[in-house]
Amino acid sequence: MVKVYSLLNNKGGVTKTTTTVNLAYGLAREGRRVLVIDTDAQSNSTYSLLGDLDREPTLFEVLISGTKMADAIIPTNQENLFLIPGSINLSAADLLMASAAGRERKLARALAPVKDEFDYVLIDTPPNLGVLTVNAFIACTDVIIPIALTTYALIGISILESTMQELRENLDVELPVFGVVANLDDHTRLSADVLAAVREHFGDLVFNTVIPRNIKVEEAHNQIACLYDYAPNSTGAQAYTKLVKEVLQRAEGN
Ligand SMILES: Nc1ncnc2c1ncn2[C@@H]1O[C@H](COP(=O)(O)OP(=O)(O)OP(=O)(O)O)[C@@H](O)[C@H]1O
Ligand SMILES: [Mg+2]
Repeated sequence: MVKVYSLLNNKGGVTKTTTTVNLAYGLAREGRRVLVIDTDAQSNSTYSLLGDLDREPTLFEVLISGTKMADAIIPTNQENLFLIPGSINLSAADLLMASAAGRERKLARALAPVKDEFDYVLIDTPPNLGVLTVNAFIACTDVIIPIALTTYALIGISILESTMQELRENLDVELPVFGVVANLDDHTRLSADVLAAVREHFGDLVFNTVIPRNIKVEEAHNQIACLYDYAPNSTGAQAYTKLVKEVLQRAEGN
């Protein structure tokens, strides 16, 4: 069965996109067929995977004009890794979809006919709780929460958790949390304290692998490179490699 993971955290800059892209590359390189769906108008994961934002149709046409998702899937340079591109037009989605019937389920409906072609679908989301994020919640089988090990990491989490609880109660979805990725570890006392608080709060859901802050991660992202080729021996690449193994272990039990 395909796993559809939404990477969710309403706080900005907590590595939703970076974790989506590096998990996607890692899973594809382990031979899994992977689809990334970019629901963010900033389209950072689209840019990181393709190096341009010129492709059409995008997720916008799928959600707004009824384009079939199958017609919007494009291959990337990485074997087994495919993308539904984002678009700046998605910034108008809240307005355009406000009165659409079944607006919360549009992504789930569009994905249904194609999802079984993949082993993993990873949905990158915007840093807010608008209609696109709600669509990502409804379309996924599980949630992955990236958390930056910085001062206010847990304050935003209560908003995310109460939103998830509301959706569970009102929209009849389960929304299990598959895992929590602790990221941007600075090896400071502050990072250690925040990590302890995150582990206290989420328990075993927190992956053992903690991703360090490492300039190679940012460079790979900015240079449209795959981290595992760009800087294979970097602390960032090694940590993401371990995380991919943990994800496979947790998802597939092997
Ligand atoms: N391990 C890392 N080490 C150093 N920099 C990182 C690391 N992970 C991510 N970054 C950088 O941190 C910034 C925020 O990461 P990213 O864009 O993935 O977060 P985001 O949650 O998707 O942000 P947004 O909410 O704006 O979509 C980016 O500049 C990214 O390159
Ligand atoms: Mg992002």
